[in-house]
Amino acid sequence: MMNVDFSNIQTASAIPGAAAMIETFRAIGYSLETAVADIIDNSISAGARNIYINRVWRGGESMIIIKDDGYGMSDEEIIQAMRPGAQNPLEERSLTDLGRFGLGLKTASFSQCRNLTLISKKKGGNVNFWTWNLDYVALTNRWELIRWLPDESEKMLDDVDSGTVVVWSNLDRVLPSLTRVDDENAKRKFSEAFDKVKSHLAMTFHRFLEDKLFKLYWCSHEIKPWNPFCLNEKKLQIMPTDYIGNDIAVKGYILPHKNNFSSETAYKNAEGVYGFSAHQGFYVYRGNRLLLAGDWLGLMRKEESYKLVRIQVDLQNTVDSDWQIDIKKSKAYPPMGCRLQLESYAKRACGLGVEVYKHRGRILKRRAGSDFQPLWSEKKKDDKWYFVVNREHSMIKHLKLLAKEDPDQAIEMLLKFVEESIPTKTIYVKEAQEENTQRQPYSDIDISIIKSMMEQIYHNQILDGLTPEQARLSLKYMEPFNEYEDLIDEL
Ligand SMILES: Nc1ncnc2c1ncn2[C@@H]1O[C@H](COP(=O)(O)OP(=O)(O)OP(=O)(O)O)[C@@H](O)[C@H]1O
Ligand SMILES: [Mg+2]
Repeated sequence: MMNVDFSNIQTASAIPGAAAMIETFRAIGYSLETAVADIIDNSISAGARNIYINRVWRGGESMIIIKDDGYGMSDEEIIQAMRPGAQNPLEERSLTDLGRFGLGLKTASFSQCRNLTLISKKKGGNVNFWTWNLDYVALTNRWELIRWLPDESEKMLDDVDSGTVVVWSNLDRVLPSLTRVDDENAKRKFSEAFDKVKSHLAMTFHRFLEDKLFKLYWCSHEIKPWNPFCLNEKKLQIMPTDYIGNDIAVKGYILPHKNNFSSETAYKNAEGVYGFSAHQGFYVYRGNRLLLAGDWLGLMRKEESYKLVRIQVDLQNTVDSDWQIDIKKSKAYPPMGCRLQLESYAKRACGLGVEVYKHRGRILKRRAGSDFQPLWSEKKKDDKWYFVVNREHSMIKHLKLLAKEDPDQAIEMLLKFVEESIPTKTIYVKEAQEENTQRQPYSDIDISIIKSMMEQIYHNQILDGLTPEQARLSLKYMEPFNEYEDLIDEL
């Protein structure tokens, strides 16, 4: 690293312009649900036992209110909390602290509204409040809070000894400011947006809610936890925990097949907000808080046949910088060092996930008994596995007949049928499980078949006007004959 001597150097002040900078905070890309979750993180870190989310419908002047009974803040501490970059991400935090950047309160709030009010009181202290008003910042271009609070919010902390209220008003990202109070359509949409928020919170904080560390209320209804792993299902398969270093624990769950769920309701519930397919993948937790739900972290792709696979990954906040946890706490990237291990664990889990379907398939096959017609048969020779097309399959027989009338169509259908039915999934699983190995292509084929095919193509090419030299060269460039140069030279 280059060493600069700071002791005797000219400097110039380059303070960010408040109006421009604070607008930039709005563009971090939160959704309503990730923004609310970020505010709740703070309540949890403040030791809250009850967290209440409310919405006040007033058309364009509607508000979202998040209140907790945590330890609260003094007047000075409110101002400190409102400062962007209140705490350095490099500073060490206690293991239960869900914060990291000293930004969440501000960035999450501004992503949804133009007025962020913080009202708080400590045990035995007074109620204090401050507001970030983006219009005021735009007007003055100064990093200044205003001593202001929305109507009817001063009494909000009367029923708790200590606590904090976050009020979002002027919700320009949620509702157009001119929305009328009697606009039923807008009112319904506003409510619907919160259905997603509720499901997201039930999932994000499910461990806290299960452990009864706090209660979470939506307009006085308690939000119940949603556990992605269906731990009460008897047919659930649980994989052994794998550790990566001291800070990361990985545990896979393979949900039961639909027909093996304890009830239709349990199956529906397990589906989650986004459906089974979307919910497959890793579930990354940081200090018990879910960061990412159903994401293969770029290690593999979502596949219909993996949709029963959900893998829990537990991180401590000590690995934050390695995993590049983002400001929204909704993204994480595994560092190079653990990618391989995560990937091989995921492959094993997906292998088991595919088995659940294969198992169903086998049940049907058993029912069909000897009537069952596989398209591809699995074979094994010298401990090496391979697949062959089943010549006895009715479709192949039919194609042979068709070939007599319309060879072009028959060949095209045969090829299509082979292309479409290649048992890639099974091959993939076999590879992943590293059961023996795959047989080398052409390693067992009768050499005379290759030779005869080669001769026929060679002669046809000569008939088409190629010189013997040209015909031989073209074979050398043709799969699979390129592997048999000696045979070509003998032609
Ligand atoms: N509900 C609350 N109760 C008590 N203190 C709070 C509350 N909300 C915020 N604070 C204080 O304000 C600070 C700033 O919060 P903010 O969310 O901006 O940053 P952070 O939580 O430290 O980090 P991150 O950017 O990762 O969220 C917190 O560290 C905390 O001290
Ligand atoms: Mg925070």
